[in-house]
Amino acid sequence: METIAKRILPRQQRRFLPADERQLGFGDIFSDHMFLMDYHDGRWQAPRIEPFAPLQLSPAAMGLHYAQLIFEGLKCYRRADGRLALFRPKDNFVRFAHSAQRLCIPDFDQGLALAALKELLLIDQAWVPSTPGASLYIRPFIVATEPHLGVRPAREYLFMIITGPVGPYYPEGFAPINIYVEPQYSRTAPGGLGEIKAAANYAASLFAAEEAHKKGYTQILWLDPCHHKYVEEVGSMNMFFVLDGELLTSPLAGTVLPGITRQSVLTLAKDWGLKVAERPLPIEEIIGAQESGLLTEAFGTGTAAVVSPVGRLHYQDQDLVVGGGQTIGPLTQRLYDEITGIQYGLRPDSHDWIFPLT
Ligand SMILES: Cc1ncc(COP(=O)(O)O)c(C=O)c1O
Repeated sequence: METIAKRILPRQQRRFLPADERQLGFGDIFSDHMFLMDYHDGRWQAPRIEPFAPLQLSPAAMGLHYAQLIFEGLKCYRRADGRLALFRPKDNFVRFAHSAQRLCIPDFDQGLALAALKELLLIDQAWVPSTPGASLYIRPFIVATEPHLGVRPAREYLFMIITGPVGPYYPEGFAPINIYVEPQYSRTAPGGLGEIKAAANYAASLFAAEEAHKKGYTQILWLDPCHHKYVEEVGSMNMFFVLDGELLTSPLAGTVLPGITRQSVLTLAKDWGLKVAERPLPIEEIIGAQESGLLTEAFGTGTAAVVSPVGRLHYQDQDLVVGGGQTIGPLTQRLYDEITGIQYGLRPDSHDWIFPLT
C-alpha cells in the first residue's frame, strides 16, 4: 500500500470539525482525504489518495446519464480504549462486488480495496469522533466515467472512497420513529436491482418518500412490488417484527437488500435462543397481530441507524401503534446495546465481526 500513500499531497487545513460532537448530523461533513482508482484500457489503474476535492468529470460521463453507479456504506468506530475499528467490512466489499457484477462494472480486488480503506482511515484518523454513538461514515462508490452517450456498459470507471464524521442518522436519535407503509409505489421489481446497492434504487424511492415526509413520517415501509401485500424493507433499513414472541423478517427474495446489520441481528437472536423466522409477512398479518395485541415490537436495522425502534405504522387509513408508541421494546434495546457494544469495544466480539485498524 506504500504506493497509495506516496501520492498524498500536503495536508489541507481542516475545513470543519464541530466543537461539540454531539451536534453532528449525518452526511454533510467530509474528512480531509479521499481514495481514487481509475479503470481504463481494460484494467484498474494505480490507486491513489488525495485531498478531498471536487472531481473533473465529462458532462457526457455515462454514470450521469444511465445511472451505472453503485455504492456501499460502513462505519469506523473509536472504541472505548481509543483504538479504531470497522464492523464486518469484508461483507461490505463482498456485497459491493456483487453490485458491480450486476451493473456490468469490472470486478475489483477486494483485498486491495480494504487495504486502501485502512490507509485512508489512518491518514484521517483525527476525524473519527469519540462521542458515544458518533462514528466516521465511509462511502465507497464506483461511477461510470467514460464520455459516451448510448446505453451500454462503460469502458471507464472511477472507484472512490470518501468519509465523514456522523452522529445519529435520524434526528430522533435512538427513539421510536413513525413509518408510512407505502400502498402504491415500488422501489424495485422482481428481477430488478433491489438486492444490490445501486444508486438508481434510491432515486426510485424519492418521490414516495417525499410524500411520506410531507405527511410527517420519517421513512417508508415498502411492500412487495407485485401485489403490495408483503412487507419488504424500509428506505435504508431492513425490517423486523416481534409477533407473539417470535422475531420475524422478510426473506431475501431478490427485491430486498441483504443487510449486514440484518444478518448480525439474526445471528444474535439465534445465539440467544429466540424463535426466529425469515418468511413472507403479509401487512394484513401485522395489522391483525397489532389489533390482537400480539405485535409487541417493530424495528429497522442498518449501518446508519444500527437498530431503530418503530413506534407507529400508518397503512392506508389505519394507524398502528407498536408497543405503546413511545417505548423501546426489550429486544430492540437488547440488540441495540449488543451491536453497539461490540462496535465500540464494550462487549465481547464472539463472532469475529470487528476489524481492528489501530
Ligand atoms: C435499502 C436498504 N436496505 C437495508 C439496508 C441495511 O443494510 P446494512 O445493514 O448492510 O447497512 C440499507 C443500508 O445499507 C439500505 O440502503
